[in-house]
Amino acid sequence: MRRRQFVLGGLSAGLGAGALPALARAPAKTTARAAIPFGAAMRVDLLRDDPDYRRAVLEHCQVLVGEGGLKWIDLRPAADRFVFDHPDRLLAFADAHGMQMRGHTLAWYAGMPKWTEAITTKQAAERALYEHIDTVVGRYKGRIPSWDVVNEAISDNPAIDKPMRPSLWQDLLGTQHIDMAFRRTAAVDPKVQLVLNDFGFENPTGQCRAKRTAFLRLVKELKDRGTPLHAIGLQGHLPGEKEIDREGLSRFVSELHGMGLAILVTELDVIDDKLPPDPAIRDEIVASRAQAFLQAIGDVVRPEVVLTWGISDKFTWVPIWFSRKDGLPNRPLPLDANYQPKPLMRVIKAFTSAKA
Ligand code: G3I
Repeated sequence: MRRRQFVLGGLSAGLGAGALPALARAPAKTTARAAIPFGAAMRVDLLRDDPDYRRAVLEHCQVLVGEGGLKWIDLRPAADRFVFDHPDRLLAFADAHGMQMRGHTLAWYAGMPKWTEAITTKQAAERALYEHIDTVVGRYKGRIPSWDVVNEAISDNPAIDKPMRPSLWQDLLGTQHIDMAFRRTAAVDPKVQLVLNDFGFENPTGQCRAKRTAFLRLVKELKDRGTPLHAIGLQGHLPGEKEIDREGLSRFVSELHGMGLAILVTELDVIDDKLPPDPAIRDEIVASRAQAFLQAIGDVVRPEVVLTWGISDKFTWVPIWFSRKDGLPNRPLPLDANYQPKPLMRVIKAFTSAKA
């Protein structure tokens, strides 16, 4: 089977017919039980500059997403200027190799350029959000089939009466900004899969329970208001030292799935700053956390795609926030710094290729 058929078939299984472009719907019949597509977040310059990185991506990935590139801070150096160089190059790479590219992300609290601090009124925020979506989603219409429309909308410690994370959008437009972003994206590209992406649902802690409750409430409100929303992106930045709350996570996924939503694993990695130093032990713990996470989801529904947030330990965001006190390099990803598969890759391959 050609790589494109494989990817598109996997992506279309379980999606509402309206959520994918016509191209993507065709092969569903023959590939309904195909493996779950696997992919990773990319730094596009490395695809050009690092042959080993490029080889690893070609060997393992069927879906790509820019680790940056489509964020406001990367796309919008000034209010009146869009720079599409990176996402254009990533999309060209994906197209050339029969892969799909996901869009990340349209409305997020972080990664905002300094000039957006001058947006201080409701009207200006609405204008800016709509202009951004019109321009960016419009440019890639029919070519990026799935967008993280809103990213990380719920607070890290959501209070019952104040669950939303402060952001330019939340502060000026309220929770309505989510409806606005989803509706506008759907209007610009009616066939695109609309995803609400977030993290921090998977541990047996009060914080994760509160986050699940707040997130479910938000999703129910969106559905009640008829907001177009097709899928939930579970990021999966797993804190390595914490157990996975398999029952709690499965229940959460079941509630989301019960509301007609598809599930995507969008940013899997295991944050290993508090794990033992021995690489072999560390790698096994990393793999077992991911396995428990994927299984808790898989017990309820086959996720449509599994993406890790990077492919090799050589290039990962983790040390920006979670470097190890002993000075050893982090090992959060499926390939080591020499591009050799680690136990995490074995777990992902077993999960994505399981037929049940
Ligand atoms: O490219 C510059 C480089 O030229 C410069 O020398 C260097 C010095 O600091 O910075 C480099 O840019 C950094 C970039 O990552 C490199 O990839 C930025 O400072 C840094 O802010 C940026 O961080 C990204 C972060 O989002 C903020 O946008 C991480 O790579 C990226 O992995 C992270 O991704 C987020 C998802 O979007 C949402 N979910 C959580 C996830 C992890 O934090």
